[in-house]
Amino acid sequence: MYALRISLIAALGGFLFGFETAVISGAEKTIQKLWSLSSGWQGFTVASSLIGTVIGSLLAGYPAQRFGRKKTLMGIAMLYLVSAIGCALTGKWILFVISRFIGGLAVGASSVVGPMYIAEIAPAPMRGRLAGSFQLNIVFGIFVAYTSNFLFLGLGDDSWRWMLGVMVLPAALFAILLRTIPESPRWLVLNNRDEEARKIFERTGDTEAMNNIMEEHTLAAGGTKESLFNGRYRKPIMFAVLLAMFNQLAGINAILYYAPRIFEMAGFGQEKAFLQPVYIGAANLLFTLLAMSLIDRFGRKTLLIIGSFGMILFLGLTALAFRESATGNTNVLYYLIGFIAFFAFSQGAVIWVFISEIFPNSVRSQGGALGSFTHWIMAAIISWTFPVIVEGSERGGYYSFLFYCVMMVLHLLFVWKFLPETKGKSLERIQKELGIE
Ligand code: GLC
Repeated sequence: MYALRISLIAALGGFLFGFETAVISGAEKTIQKLWSLSSGWQGFTVASSLIGTVIGSLLAGYPAQRFGRKKTLMGIAMLYLVSAIGCALTGKWILFVISRFIGGLAVGASSVVGPMYIAEIAPAPMRGRLAGSFQLNIVFGIFVAYTSNFLFLGLGDDSWRWMLGVMVLPAALFAILLRTIPESPRWLVLNNRDEEARKIFERTGDTEAMNNIMEEHTLAAGGTKESLFNGRYRKPIMFAVLLAMFNQLAGINAILYYAPRIFEMAGFGQEKAFLQPVYIGAANLLFTLLAMSLIDRFGRKTLLIIGSFGMILFLGLTALAFRESATGNTNVLYYLIGFIAFFAFSQGAVIWVFISEIFPNSVRSQGGALGSFTHWIMAAIISWTFPVIVEGSERGGYYSFLFYCVMMVLHLLFVWKFLPETKGKSLERIQKELGIE
């Protein structure tokens, strides 16, 4: 079906997001040795792509609004291509950092424009599932990155170049397939190209869309230039920012980026240390699928509460393992798989859907960018500090996981006491409940 096909093509941006963020875990140790990096510079090298994501998420709204979603997605595909080629071929550390930064720009921009395009093209009854396919693509990309890292390991000293360079293939595929999708019809309407938009809605079978937009368009007239920060949107801003912060304070990306290192520390040999992340990636994929099938039945809040309990338990166990011994023990594998399963089932599945639900149309792109930006700033901080803390102190592993665990206790309280449930409610009703008239 047409809407599904074009959504899946746009969601490939999510696949590349997942691949680009996880692939570094297989390469980071060799790179550290190759260029003799101290743990601080090493943290910076890994975080360089994250600095790109922060900037990419902040800036992406502008070209998406000015030149259209489709052209912006094509630009993003080009950035992914340049990054993959640059990383694979560079002889200099600084060029490596720049290439990763460019890849980061693409990831950050994808996280704003990808879900936005899908939401704008999807017929309302299937919007939830189609929006969810973005996260599914992210975790699939992570899984493929871990698997290909494991497979490339045998290639010796240059294996890291292959690990990073292979991203050329999905990036090229993304660029080619993007040529076959239409511009977002809602963007076309904003630019007074109603006839083109009407034709696209006919193809997606969304007969109501045009009427709904027209109504909203008149209602929102004068509101489209509205600023996000005018007091009315205090609540959705607070929820988006806090949810994005807690998403990263679980330590998810420290674990994803440094998985082989954590497993080597815990006493697995190198080959095993590269195989274990594949299990982590598989658990992530499986539990995301489970969450997708339950998110509209159980609701976002219930998923988050169940997930918090599981994350607290498994982060606590990991912390204890690192308290007993600075290098942890082999049980850490099971604990981290347990953690990932609960993360995928809750925060992973909910974040991008929730952020796209709580802002009204007139400020949705600004709100989405703010949520994304917060998420990436926190991701950069967490992945920069993790190796520094672990290498800087005997008890670094213990302190890090204990901190993530305590953060999840706070997250549980926040979700339970304050977060509204958005399941099955119209966007207008959600806005009303958030005090936006
Ligand atoms: C969510 C997080 C992202 C993380 C991914 C892992 O999308 O927001 O940071 O990398 O889940 O599955």
